[in-house]
Amino acid sequence: MRMYDIIQKKRDGGVLSEAEIKWFLEGYVKGEIPDYQAAALCMAIYFRGMNLEETAALTFAVRDSGERLDFSEIHGLRVDKHSTGGVGDKTSLVVAPIVASLGVKVAKMSGRGLGHTGGTIDKLEAIPGFKTSLPIDEFKEIVNRVGIAIVGQNAELAPADKLLYALRDVTATVDSLPLIVSSIMGKKLAADDDCIVLDVKTGSGAFMKTEEKSRELAQWMVEIGKRAGKRMRALITDMDTPLGYAIGNSLEVIESIQTLKGQGPQDLTEICIALAANILNLAEKGTYAECEQMAKDAIANGTALQCFADMVTAQGGKGDWILHPEQFPTAKYSYTVRAKESGYITGVDAEGYGVASLLLGAGRNTKEDVIDPAAGIYLMAKTGDYVEVGTPIATLYSERENTFAQSEARLLQATRIAKTAPEKKPLILGVVE
Ligand code: URA
Repeated sequence: MRMYDIIQKKRDGGVLSEAEIKWFLEGYVKGEIPDYQAAALCMAIYFRGMNLEETAALTFAVRDSGERLDFSEIHGLRVDKHSTGGVGDKTSLVVAPIVASLGVKVAKMSGRGLGHTGGTIDKLEAIPGFKTSLPIDEFKEIVNRVGIAIVGQNAELAPADKLLYALRDVTATVDSLPLIVSSIMGKKLAADDDCIVLDVKTGSGAFMKTEEKSRELAQWMVEIGKRAGKRMRALITDMDTPLGYAIGNSLEVIESIQTLKGQGPQDLTEICIALAANILNLAEKGTYAECEQMAKDAIANGTALQCFADMVTAQGGKGDWILHPEQFPTAKYSYTVRAKESGYITGVDAEGYGVASLLLGAGRNTKEDVIDPAAGIYLMAKTGDYVEVGTPIATLYSERENTFAQSEARLLQATRIAKTAPEKKPLILGVVE
Protein backbone atom coordinates (compact mmCIF):
# COMPACT_ATOMS: atom_id res chain seq x y z
CA MET A 1 0.00 0.00 0.00
CA ARG A 2 1.03 3.62 -0.53
CA MET A 3 0.05 6.54 1.68
CA TYR A 4 -0.29 8.70 -1.43
CA ASP A 5 -3.06 6.42 -2.78
CA ILE A 6 -4.93 6.43 0.54
CA ILE A 7 -4.85 10.24 0.73
CA GLN A 8 -5.94 10.52 -2.90
CA LYS A 9 -8.81 8.03 -2.41
CA LYS A 10 -10.20 9.96 0.55
CA ARG A 11 -9.56 13.33 -1.11
CA ASP A 12 -11.75 12.15 -4.01
CA GLY A 13 -14.53 10.98 -1.69
CA GLY A 14 -13.78 7.24 -1.68
CA VAL A 15 -14.48 4.81 1.16
CA LEU A 16 -11.35 3.48 2.86
CA SER A 17 -11.13 -0.22 3.67
CA GLU A 18 -10.42 -1.51 7.18
CA ALA A 19 -7.02 -2.74 5.89
CA GLU A 20 -6.10 0.71 4.55
CA ILE A 21 -7.12 2.43 7.79
CA LYS A 22 -5.09 -0.04 9.90
CA TRP A 23 -2.09 0.21 7.59
CA PHE A 24 -2.07 4.02 7.83
CA LEU A 25 -2.39 4.09 11.60
CA GLU A 26 0.22 1.40 12.26
CA GLY A 27 2.67 3.11 9.92
CA TYR A 28 2.05 6.50 11.52
CA VAL A 29 2.65 5.17 15.04
CA LYS A 30 5.87 3.44 13.91
CA GLY A 31 7.08 6.75 12.45
CA GLU A 32 7.07 5.34 8.90
CA ILE A 33 4.42 7.80 7.76
CA PRO A 34 5.41 11.44 8.25
CA ASP A 35 3.26 14.10 9.93
CA TYR A 36 2.64 15.91 6.63
CA GLN A 37 0.98 12.87 5.06
CA ALA A 38 -1.06 12.17 8.21
CA ALA A 39 -2.11 15.85 8.24
CA ALA A 40 -3.14 15.64 4.58
CA LEU A 41 -5.28 12.57 5.31
CA CYS A 42 -6.88 14.28 8.32
CA MET A 43 -7.77 17.23 6.09
CA ALA A 44 -9.20 14.91 3.45
CA ILE A 45 -11.28 13.18 6.16
CA TYR A 46 -12.32 16.61 7.44
CA PHE A 47 -13.78 17.54 4.05
CA ARG A 48 -15.01 14.14 2.81
CA GLY A 49 -16.07 12.53 6.11
CA MET A 50 -16.19 8.81 6.83
CA ASN A 51 -19.13 6.44 7.05
CA LEU A 52 -19.95 4.56 10.28
CA GLU A 53 -18.00 1.45 9.21
CA GLU A 54 -14.86 3.45 8.36
CA THR A 55 -15.22 5.36 11.63
CA ALA A 56 -15.58 2.12 13.61
CA ALA A 57 -12.49 0.72 11.86
CA LEU A 58 -10.52 3.87 12.66
CA THR A 59 -11.71 3.76 16.29
CA PHE A 60 -10.71 0.12 16.77
CA ALA A 61 -7.36 0.80 15.07
CA VAL A 62 -6.73 3.68 17.51
CA ARG A 63 -7.70 1.41 20.42
CA ASP A 64 -5.38 -1.35 19.19
CA SER A 65 -2.46 0.98 18.41
CA GLY A 66 -1.00 0.43 21.89
CA GLU A 67 -1.50 -1.34 25.14
CA ARG A 68 -5.03 -2.44 26.18
CA LEU A 69 -5.44 -1.86 29.89
CA ASP A 70 -6.59 -4.57 32.25
CA PHE A 71 -8.49 -3.20 35.23
CA SER A 72 -9.62 -6.60 36.54
CA GLU A 73 -7.64 -5.96 39.76
CA ILE A 74 -9.91 -2.99 40.47
CA HIS A 75 -12.77 -4.18 42.64
CA GLY A 76 -16.28 -3.15 41.63
CA LEU A 77 -17.94 -1.63 38.61
CA ARG A 78 -15.72 0.79 36.67
CA VAL A 79 -17.27 3.86 35.13
CA ASP A 80 -16.01 6.70 32.97
CA LYS A 81 -17.30 10.01 31.73
CA HIS A 82 -15.94 11.94 28.79
CA SER A 83 -16.79 15.29 27.30
CA THR A 84 -16.38 16.14 23.64
CA GLY A 85 -14.83 19.43 24.77
CA GLY A 86 -16.11 22.84 25.72
CA VAL A 87 -15.23 26.17 27.25
CA GLY A 88 -15.24 26.33 31.05
CA ASP A 89 -16.13 22.63 31.04
CA LYS A 90 -14.85 21.38 34.37
CA THR A 91 -17.57 18.74 34.84
CA SER A 92 -15.11 15.83 35.23
CA LEU A 93 -13.62 17.46 38.33
CA VAL A 94 -17.07 17.51 39.92
CA VAL A 95 -18.79 14.42 38.53
CA ALA A 96 -15.95 11.92 39.02
CA PRO A 97 -15.62 12.54 42.80
CA ILE A 98 -19.42 12.49 43.22
CA VAL A 99 -19.82 9.05 41.67
CA ALA A 100 -16.64 7.65 43.25
CA SER A 101 -17.90 8.74 46.68
CA LEU A 102 -21.03 6.68 45.97
CA GLY A 103 -19.16 3.43 45.41
CA VAL A 104 -18.43 3.13 41.70
CA LYS A 105 -14.80 3.10 40.65
CA VAL A 106 -13.37 5.86 38.47
CA ALA A 107 -10.08 4.90 36.79
CA LYS A 108 -9.91 7.87 34.50
CA MET A 109 -7.57 8.79 31.67
CA SER A 110 -8.10 12.38 30.59
CA GLY A 111 -6.76 14.70 27.94
CA ARG A 112 -5.14 18.09 27.62
CA GLY A 113 -6.67 21.17 26.06
CA LEU A 114 -7.50 20.90 22.40
CA GLY A 115 -8.06 23.92 20.15
CA HIS A 116 -10.07 26.52 22.07
CA THR A 117 -11.24 23.99 24.69
CA GLY A 118 -9.63 23.18 28.03
CA GLY A 119 -8.51 19.74 29.21
CA THR A 120 -8.91 18.02 32.58
CA ILE A 121 -5.21 17.19 32.83
CA ASP A 122 -4.14 20.82 32.38
CA LYS A 123 -6.65 21.78 35.08
CA LEU A 124 -5.40 19.15 37.53
CA GLU A 125 -1.81 20.26 36.92
CA ALA A 126 -2.82 23.64 38.39
CA ILE A 127 -2.78 21.83 41.76
CA PRO A 128 0.84 21.91 43.01
CA GLY A 129 2.46 18.49 43.19
CA PHE A 130 -0.43 16.65 41.52
CA LYS A 131 0.98 13.81 39.41
CA THR A 132 -0.91 13.25 36.17
CA SER A 133 1.33 10.35 35.30
CA LEU A 134 1.57 7.30 37.57
CA PRO A 135 2.88 3.74 37.20
CA ILE A 136 -0.12 1.57 36.36
CA ASP A 137 0.08 -0.46 39.60
CA GLU A 138 0.02 2.69 41.71
CA PHE A 139 -2.89 4.02 39.64
CA LYS A 140 -4.93 0.85 40.28
CA GLU A 141 -3.98 0.86 43.98
CA ILE A 142 -5.29 4.44 44.35
CA VAL A 143 -8.53 3.57 42.55
CA ASN A 144 -9.04 0.60 44.90
CA ARG A 145 -8.20 2.62 48.02
CA VAL A 146 -9.75 6.05 47.25
CA GLY A 147 -12.29 5.06 44.60
CA ILE A 148 -10.84 7.40 41.99
CA ALA A 149 -7.66 8.37 40.17
CA ILE A 150 -7.27 10.62 37.13
CA VAL A 151 -4.16 10.52 34.97
CA GLY A 152 -3.16 11.64 31.50
CA GLN A 153 -3.14 9.22 28.68
CA ASN A 154 0.24 7.45 28.93
CA ALA A 155 2.42 6.90 25.89
CA GLU A 156 1.39 3.25 25.66
CA LEU A 157 -2.38 3.85 25.66
CA ALA A 158 -3.79 4.57 22.20
CA PRO A 159 -0.53 6.20 20.99
CA ALA A 160 -2.14 6.82 17.60
CA ASP A 161 -4.56 9.22 19.25
CA LYS A 162 -1.83 10.97 21.16
CA LEU A 163 -0.05 11.69 17.86
CA LEU A 164 -3.17 12.57 15.91
CA TYR A 165 -4.61 14.72 18.72
CA ALA A 166 -1.51 16.93 18.77
CA LEU A 167 -1.42 17.06 14.95
CA ARG A 168 -5.11 17.96 14.61
CA ASP A 169 -4.77 20.62 17.29
CA VAL A 170 -2.40 22.62 15.08
CA THR A 171 -3.78 21.80 11.61
CA ALA A 172 -7.42 22.94 12.00
CA THR A 173 -8.74 19.37 11.76
CA VAL A 174 -10.23 18.95 15.22
CA ASP A 175 -13.90 19.51 14.40
CA SER A 176 -14.44 16.45 12.24
CA LEU A 177 -17.05 13.90 13.35
CA PRO A 178 -15.13 10.69 12.47
CA LEU A 179 -11.89 12.09 13.91
CA ILE A 180 -13.59 13.06 17.17
CA VAL A 181 -15.39 9.70 17.46
CA SER A 182 -12.23 7.68 16.84
CA SER A 183 -10.15 9.88 19.15
CA ILE A 184 -12.53 9.72 22.09
CA MET A 185 -13.76 6.17 21.70
CA GLY A 186 -10.35 4.79 20.65
CA LYS A 187 -8.83 5.74 23.98
CA LYS A 188 -11.96 5.03 26.02
CA LEU A 189 -12.06 1.49 24.63
CA ALA A 190 -8.35 0.93 25.31
CA ALA A 191 -9.12 1.48 28.98
CA ASP A 192 -11.08 -1.23 30.73
CA ASP A 193 -14.32 0.35 31.96
CA ASP A 194 -17.77 -1.19 32.17
CA CYS A 195 -19.93 1.92 31.70
CA ILE A 196 -19.21 5.10 29.75
CA VAL A 197 -21.31 8.26 29.86
CA LEU A 198 -20.51 10.86 27.22
CA ASP A 199 -21.20 14.55 27.48
CA VAL A 200 -21.61 15.64 23.88
CA LYS A 201 -21.43 19.40 23.71
CA THR A 202 -23.31 21.42 21.13
CA GLY A 203 -23.19 25.10 20.21
CA SER A 204 -20.73 27.90 19.59
CA GLY A 205 -18.13 26.63 22.08
CA ALA A 206 -18.32 23.00 20.97
CA PHE A 207 -16.56 21.30 18.09
CA MET A 208 -19.99 20.33 16.71
CA LYS A 209 -21.87 23.61 16.34
CA THR A 210 -25.34 22.25 15.52
CA GLU A 211 -27.62 20.01 17.57
CA GLU A 212 -28.11 17.74 14.56
CA LYS A 213 -24.36 17.10 14.17
CA SER A 214 -23.93 16.66 17.93
CA ARG A 215 -26.74 14.10 18.01
CA GLU A 216 -25.08 12.19 15.17
CA LEU A 217 -21.76 12.30 17.05
CA ALA A 218 -23.49 10.97 20.18
CA GLN A 219 -25.24 8.19 18.25
CA TRP A 220 -22.06 7.03 16.55
CA MET A 221 -20.06 6.98 19.77
CA VAL A 222 -22.80 5.08 21.61
CA GLU A 223 -23.11 2.61 18.73
CA ILE A 224 -19.35 1.97 18.49
CA GLY A 225 -19.04 1.64 22.29
CA LYS A 226 -21.84 -0.93 22.31
CA ARG A 227 -20.17 -2.88 19.49
CA ALA A 228 -17.17 -3.13 21.84
CA GLY A 229 -19.38 -4.49 24.65
CA LYS A 230 -19.67 -1.35 26.83
CA ARG A 231 -22.75 0.01 28.60
CA MET A 232 -23.13 3.40 26.92
CA ARG A 233 -25.18 6.57 27.27
CA ALA A 234 -24.67 10.10 25.92
CA LEU A 235 -26.11 13.42 27.02
CA ILE A 236 -26.31 16.27 24.54
CA THR A 237 -25.67 19.47 26.45
CA ASP A 238 -25.58 23.15 25.61
CA MET A 239 -22.22 24.80 24.91
CA ASP A 240 -23.44 28.08 23.47
CA THR A 241 -22.23 29.77 26.64
CA PRO A 242 -19.20 28.79 28.75
CA LEU A 243 -20.13 26.53 31.63
CA GLY A 244 -20.01 28.34 34.97
CA TYR A 245 -18.13 31.62 35.33
CA ALA A 246 -14.51 30.42 35.31
CA ILE A 247 -12.40 29.74 32.21
CA GLY A 248 -8.74 28.81 32.80
CA ASN A 249 -7.05 26.11 34.79
CA SER A 250 -6.77 27.06 38.47
CA LEU A 251 -9.90 29.27 38.19
CA GLU A 252 -11.80 26.18 37.03
CA VAL A 253 -10.41 23.98 39.81
CA ILE A 254 -11.62 26.57 42.34
CA GLU A 255 -15.07 26.72 40.74
CA SER A 256 -15.27 22.90 40.78
CA ILE A 257 -14.49 22.95 44.49
CA GLN A 258 -17.24 25.53 45.05
CA THR A 259 -19.63 23.27 43.15
CA LEU A 260 -18.63 20.26 45.25
CA LYS A 261 -19.35 22.45 48.29
CA GLY A 262 -22.86 23.12 46.96
CA GLN A 263 -22.00 26.74 46.15
CA GLY A 264 -21.35 26.40 42.43
CA PRO A 265 -23.03 28.15 39.50
CA GLN A 266 -26.51 26.87 38.68
CA ASP A 267 -25.69 25.70 35.10
CA LEU A 268 -22.58 23.77 36.11
CA THR A 269 -24.35 22.18 39.08
CA GLU A 270 -27.33 21.09 36.96
CA ILE A 271 -25.16 19.42 34.30
CA CYS A 272 -22.92 17.74 36.88
CA ILE A 273 -25.88 16.29 38.78
CA ALA A 274 -27.40 15.01 35.53
CA LEU A 275 -24.12 13.40 34.42
CA ALA A 276 -23.55 11.83 37.84
CA ALA A 277 -27.13 10.53 37.99
CA ASN A 278 -26.80 9.01 34.53
CA ILE A 279 -23.53 7.30 35.43
CA LEU A 280 -25.00 5.88 38.66
CA ASN A 281 -28.16 4.79 36.87
CA LEU A 282 -26.15 3.08 34.10
CA ALA A 283 -24.16 1.36 36.86
CA GLU A 284 -27.50 0.11 38.28
CA LYS A 285 -27.23 1.99 41.56
CA GLY A 286 -30.96 2.84 41.47
CA THR A 287 -33.68 4.52 39.44
CA TYR A 288 -32.75 7.81 37.78
CA ALA A 289 -34.60 9.79 40.48
CA GLU A 290 -32.81 7.86 43.25
CA CYS A 291 -29.43 8.39 41.59
CA GLU A 292 -30.10 12.11 41.21
CA GLN A 293 -30.88 12.36 44.92
CA MET A 294 -27.75 10.36 45.80
CA ALA A 295 -25.62 12.77 43.76
CA LYS A 296 -27.19 15.80 45.47
CA ASP A 297 -26.65 14.19 48.90
CA ALA A 298 -22.97 13.49 48.15
CA ILE A 299 -22.52 17.23 47.61
CA ALA A 300 -24.63 18.25 50.62
CA ASN A 301 -22.89 15.92 53.08
CA GLY A 302 -19.36 16.73 51.88
CA THR A 303 -18.36 13.19 50.87
CA ALA A 304 -17.79 14.13 47.22
CA LEU A 305 -15.48 17.03 48.14
CA GLN A 306 -13.56 14.83 50.59
CA CYS A 307 -13.19 12.19 47.87
CA PHE A 308 -11.67 14.83 45.54
CA ALA A 309 -9.27 15.95 48.29
CA ASP A 310 -8.29 12.32 49.00
CA MET A 311 -7.57 11.70 45.33
CA VAL A 312 -5.42 14.83 45.12
CA THR A 313 -3.44 13.77 48.21
CA ALA A 314 -3.04 10.21 46.90
CA GLN A 315 -1.68 11.58 43.61
CA GLY A 316 0.91 13.76 45.36
CA GLY A 317 -0.97 17.06 45.31
CA LYS A 318 -1.98 19.46 48.02
CA GLY A 319 -5.27 17.90 49.18
CA ASP A 320 -5.54 20.62 51.79
CA TRP A 321 -5.91 23.21 49.00
CA ILE A 322 -9.07 21.43 47.85
CA LEU A 323 -10.64 22.00 51.25
CA HIS A 324 -9.18 25.54 51.46
CA PRO A 325 -8.95 26.81 47.87
CA GLU A 326 -8.08 30.36 48.93
CA GLN A 327 -4.49 29.07 48.89
CA PHE A 328 -4.38 28.92 45.07
CA PRO A 329 -2.18 31.81 43.84
CA THR A 330 -3.75 34.44 41.62
CA ALA A 331 -2.13 35.73 38.44
CA LYS A 332 0.27 38.65 38.64
CA TYR A 333 -1.97 40.95 36.58
CA SER A 334 -5.72 41.37 36.26
CA TYR A 335 -7.87 43.58 34.06
CA THR A 336 -11.60 44.33 34.07
CA VAL A 337 -13.50 44.19 30.79
CA ARG A 338 -16.51 46.53 30.74
CA ALA A 339 -19.58 46.58 28.52
CA LYS A 340 -19.39 49.12 25.69
CA GLU A 341 -23.20 49.36 25.31
CA SER A 342 -26.31 48.88 27.42
CA GLY A 343 -28.74 46.01 27.03
CA TYR A 344 -29.15 42.28 27.58
CA ILE A 345 -26.39 39.86 26.73
CA THR A 346 -28.35 37.88 24.15
CA GLY A 347 -25.66 35.35 23.42
CA VAL A 348 -21.94 34.79 23.18
CA ASP A 349 -19.58 33.03 20.85
CA ALA A 350 -18.19 30.61 23.41
CA GLU A 351 -15.33 29.64 21.11
CA GLY A 352 -14.29 33.32 21.10
CA TYR A 353 -14.24 33.23 24.90
CA GLY A 354 -12.07 30.09 24.77
CA VAL A 355 -9.64 31.84 22.42
CA ALA A 356 -9.63 34.97 24.64
CA SER A 357 -8.59 32.75 27.56
CA LEU A 358 -5.95 30.98 25.47
CA LEU A 359 -4.44 34.37 24.53
CA LEU A 360 -3.97 35.09 28.24
CA GLY A 361 -1.82 31.96 28.61
CA ALA A 362 -4.45 29.40 29.67
CA GLY A 363 -4.03 27.26 26.54
CA ARG A 364 -1.60 26.41 23.77
CA ASN A 365 -1.06 27.90 20.33
CA THR A 366 1.65 25.38 19.42
CA LYS A 367 2.39 21.85 20.69
CA GLU A 368 5.33 23.23 22.70
CA ASP A 369 3.54 26.08 24.55
CA VAL A 370 3.61 25.97 28.36
CA ILE A 371 0.36 26.75 30.17
CA ASP A 372 0.11 29.40 32.85
CA PRO A 373 -2.14 27.80 35.52
CA ALA A 374 -3.48 31.06 36.96
CA ALA A 375 -4.32 32.63 33.58
CA GLY A 376 -7.91 32.86 32.44
CA ILE A 377 -11.19 34.69 32.62
CA TYR A 378 -13.75 35.08 35.38
CA LEU A 379 -17.09 36.12 33.92
CA MET A 380 -19.19 38.65 35.77
CA ALA A 381 -22.12 38.69 33.33
CA LYS A 382 -23.51 35.92 31.18
CA THR A 383 -26.21 35.37 28.58
CA GLY A 384 -29.52 36.79 29.84
CA ASP A 385 -27.93 39.39 32.15
CA TYR A 386 -28.63 43.11 31.73
CA VAL A 387 -25.59 45.39 31.55
CA GLU A 388 -25.11 49.17 31.36
CA VAL A 389 -22.24 50.88 29.55
CA GLY A 390 -19.25 50.41 31.87
CA THR A 391 -20.67 47.39 33.77
CA PRO A 392 -17.85 44.88 34.39
CA ILE A 393 -18.50 41.76 32.32
CA ALA A 394 -15.29 39.84 33.01
CA THR A 395 -11.96 39.91 34.80
CA LEU A 396 -8.94 38.75 32.81
CA TYR A 397 -5.97 37.15 34.59
CA SER A 398 -2.48 36.71 33.16
CA GLU A 399 1.21 36.71 33.99
CA ARG A 400 1.73 38.89 30.90
CA GLU A 401 0.06 42.31 30.98
CA ASN A 402 0.53 42.74 27.23
CA THR A 403 -2.01 39.98 26.51
CA PHE A 404 -4.99 41.96 27.82
CA ALA A 405 -5.74 44.19 24.81
CA GLN A 406 -6.05 41.31 22.34
CA SER A 407 -7.98 39.12 24.78
CA GLU A 408 -10.40 41.95 25.64
CA ALA A 409 -11.04 42.66 21.96
CA ARG A 410 -11.79 38.98 21.32
CA LEU A 411 -14.12 38.78 24.31
CA LEU A 412 -16.08 41.91 23.38
CA GLN A 413 -16.33 40.77 19.78
CA ALA A 414 -17.76 37.46 21.05
CA THR A 415 -20.42 39.14 23.24
CA ARG A 416 -23.76 40.11 21.67
CA ILE A 417 -25.78 42.83 23.42
CA ALA A 418 -29.32 43.88 22.40
CA LYS A 419 -32.34 45.66 23.84
CA THR A 420 -34.57 42.61 24.33
CA ALA A 421 -33.88 39.73 26.71
CA PRO A 422 -33.08 36.39 25.05
CA GLU A 423 -35.24 33.30 25.56
CA LYS A 424 -33.94 30.88 28.17
CA LYS A 425 -32.72 27.65 26.62
CA PRO A 426 -32.53 24.22 28.30
CA LEU A 427 -29.06 22.99 29.25
CA ILE A 428 -29.70 19.32 28.54
CA LEU A 429 -30.98 18.85 25.03
CA GLY A 430 -31.27 15.10 24.81
CA VAL A 431 -30.11 11.67 25.92
CA VAL A 432 -28.91 8.96 23.53
CA GLU A 433 -29.09 5.41 24.91
N1 URA B 1 -11.76 15.12 22.84
C1 URA B 1 -10.96 14.13 22.41
O1 URA B 1 -10.44 13.35 23.20
N2 URA B 1 -10.74 14.04 21.11
C2 URA B 1 -11.30 14.87 20.20
O2 URA B 1 -11.07 14.71 19.04
C3 URA B 1 -12.14 15.90 20.67
C4 URA B 1 -12.36 16.00 21.99
